[in-house]
Amino acid sequence: MQTIIYKSKAIDSFTREEIIRMLNRSKRRNKKHGVTGCIFYHNNHFIQLIEGEENEIHQLYDNIKEDDRHSQVELLLEKKSNERSMLDWSMAYYDLSGKLAEQGHRRLLLESLFVENLTNSNQDVVEFLKSEITKLIG
Ligand SMILES: Cc1cc2nc3c(=O)[nH]c(=O)nc-3n(C[C@H](O)[C@H](O)[C@H](O)COP(=O)(O)O)c2cc1C
Repeated sequence: MQTIIYKSKAIDSFTREEIIRMLNRSKRRNKKHGVTGCIFYHNNHFIQLIEGEENEIHQLYDNIKEDDRHSQVELLLEKKSNERSMLDWSMAYYDLSGKLAEQGHRRLLLESLFVENLTNSNQDVVEFLKSEITKLIG
C-alpha cells in the first residue's frame, strides 16, 4: 500500500461545479483501481491524500501532476504501509472555504471531518494530514 499526500493550487477558472464533476469521475476511476483518499479545498488550494497499490498510485500521481486544472503541485508525503487510512473506496471531498473562520472551532470541526472516514491505522499519516490542513486554513 502506497500513500501520497500533495498540495496544489487550482487555476482561477476551475469552478466549484467543475471540481465536483471532476471528483465524481475520479471516484468512479478510483473505485475501479482500488484507490481511496480524501481531498480538501480551501481558498483555491487543494490538499489530497491518495492511497492504493503502488503502481496505481504512482500512475495516478503522474496524471494529477500533468493536470492543467491546477499548478504548483508539491509532494508533501510519500509512504508505504500495510493498511489504508480511508474506509471508502473513493474520494471524500471537503470544501473548507468560508468555514473554520473562528479559531476556537477549527480543531473540533477538523476532528469531526476525520472521524467519519478514517480507519484507526496509520495514525501518523492522519496526524500529518491534519497538520497540513491546519496550515492551509491558517
Ligand atoms: C486536484 C485534482 C485531483 C484529482 N484527483 C483524482 C483522483 O483522485 N482520481 C482520478 O482518477 N483522477 C483525479 N484527478 C484527475 C486526473 O488528473 C486525470 O484527469 C484523471 O486521472 C484522468 O486521466 P486520463 O485523462 O489520463 O484518463 C484529479 C485532478 C485534480 C486537478
